[in-house]
Amino acid sequence: MTIEKLEIEITNCRKCDLYQTRTRCVIGGGNLDSDIMMIGEAPGEQEDRRGEVFVGPSGVLLDKMLAAIQLDRTKVYITNILKCRPPRNRTPHSKEITACMDYLREQFKLMRPKVIILLGSVACKAILSPDFSVMRHHGEITERKGVYFLPTFHPSALLRDESKKPLAYKDLLNLKALLEQKIPTTDR
Ligand code: URA
Repeated sequence: MTIEKLEIEITNCRKCDLYQTRTRCVIGGGNLDSDIMMIGEAPGEQEDRRGEVFVGPSGVLLDKMLAAIQLDRTKVYITNILKCRPPRNRTPHSKEITACMDYLREQFKLMRPKVIILLGSVACKAILSPDFSVMRHHGEITERKGVYFLPTFHPSALLRDESKKPLAYKDLLNLKALLEQKIPTTDR
């Protein structure tokens, strides 16, 4: 698989009903050669319109989060669990997540990231475990098959509740320490 082939597959995808309501699919953006992958939930209104990942209000905050630890989009690859916008940004259905997961697997294989940042509950539940609580376990880095996972808040959750921002900042410092290979990890 190449990224070009994957883009064609996703663009033509009809594996769930979201193709009927999407304007454009959103595959991902940033640097596929990076060691760092970030996974959000699903495209929002602006992403759906432009076909680009995290370009709305959440994206503005995401850029600030990256800048807080001296990163930017040229140094990470960003994608979502779903490649199409759910109507009115509703929470993705489990059938949609299952239908879309093969694309994320292909992105993973193409990229082979060493660190995966999971943004919000939908990504954490889909990738780590269905009962994962971001509130309880954000910032806890785990390792599986040589890949480190960092669960943290979704930027839209931080926009809704600013009191969580210092917690997210601490998570990002954990990430920075991991990238500098300073901290031990816990097994879940
Ligand atoms: N929220 C997400 O999870 N992903 C986007 O691309 C935009 C908003």
